[in-house]
Amino acid sequence: MKSYPLRDTGFSVDLVPVAPNVFGFKLTHPDNSFLFPEASEWIANLKRAILENGDKELHLRLDKQRFKDLLAELPVLGFQLKHERTEFHSPVADLPDDQGTPISWKPMESLEEAAKALHAVAIGDPDYDPNEDALEGIKYYFGDANFKASSLQLGFIDNKLAALVIVQVKPDGWSRITYMGVHPDFRKRGLGKWVHRKGFSLMKEMGGKNYFGGTVSTNQSMLKVFRESGCRELRVLQEWIRK
Ligand SMILES: CC(C)(COP(=O)(O)OP(=O)(O)OC[C@H]1O[C@@H](n2cnc3c(N)ncnc32)[C@H](O)[C@@H]1OP(=O)(O)O)[C@@H](O)C(=O)NCCC(=O)NCCS
Repeated sequence: MKSYPLRDTGFSVDLVPVAPNVFGFKLTHPDNSFLFPEASEWIANLKRAILENGDKELHLRLDKQRFKDLLAELPVLGFQLKHERTEFHSPVADLPDDQGTPISWKPMESLEEAAKALHAVAIGDPDYDPNEDALEGIKYYFGDANFKASSLQLGFIDNKLAALVIVQVKPDGWSRITYMGVHPDFRKRGLGKWVHRKGFSLMKEMGGKNYFGGTVSTNQSMLKVFRESGCRELRVLQEWIRK
């Protein structure tokens, strides 16, 4: 894929595939300094990339605070705002575990069972498309070599499916909750925090060190769950698409 060096800064913009025929721009800073290039530099390079790749679907994900000047230019360049995500961070050691939970948990037994449960708990998530193939989604998680059956747990209350949590921990301790949800029949009873905490307990067991999580900024219930867990708000990312 072609790389576009930014003139004086040493930064480069790469086009990276994110899905078939869908590409994202990746900004690389050479020495990990946090001196970001001027918006004018960015825009010049973005225009050049669009001229050469405008036939492809292009995605941009940018920090709302840091790239204020650039964000104002994106509609002019044909990008549309898809959504905003609020991201959080916490050292895993600082997170509460799920002692005292009212939920009984068990690891998934089959891909089909997990897919059915994922579909049931995801209803109402503004970021979930009910026409999406949940089974394909589960298979995709298994593409990660560190993913085990115990990374996906189903939660029951009175023998009824009440919740699901999926956790990912990389060998360097980077951790995330790939997905979590409460079944619609069990929502608004304060269970969200217990599902989140089950995720934290699994992370601890799996050697997690740093938890990074996030949700679309319109998911008010999930934002409340994050804040209740004591996670620190890291940044707000906007995703823009040019079709
Ligand atoms: C987000 C989600 C996990 C929250 O789970 P939940 O168990 O309903 O969470 P809580 O009960 O703790 O909080 C939800 C709401 O109920 C309220 N609530 C909590 N306890 C309550 C109680 N005992 N009685 C009435 N309301 C209550 C909370 O104040 C909160 O209010 P809000 O939605 O107006 O902000 C759930 O809505 C869900 O599964 N959504 C679909 C999947 C999803 O979005 N997953 C996250 C993807 S990142």
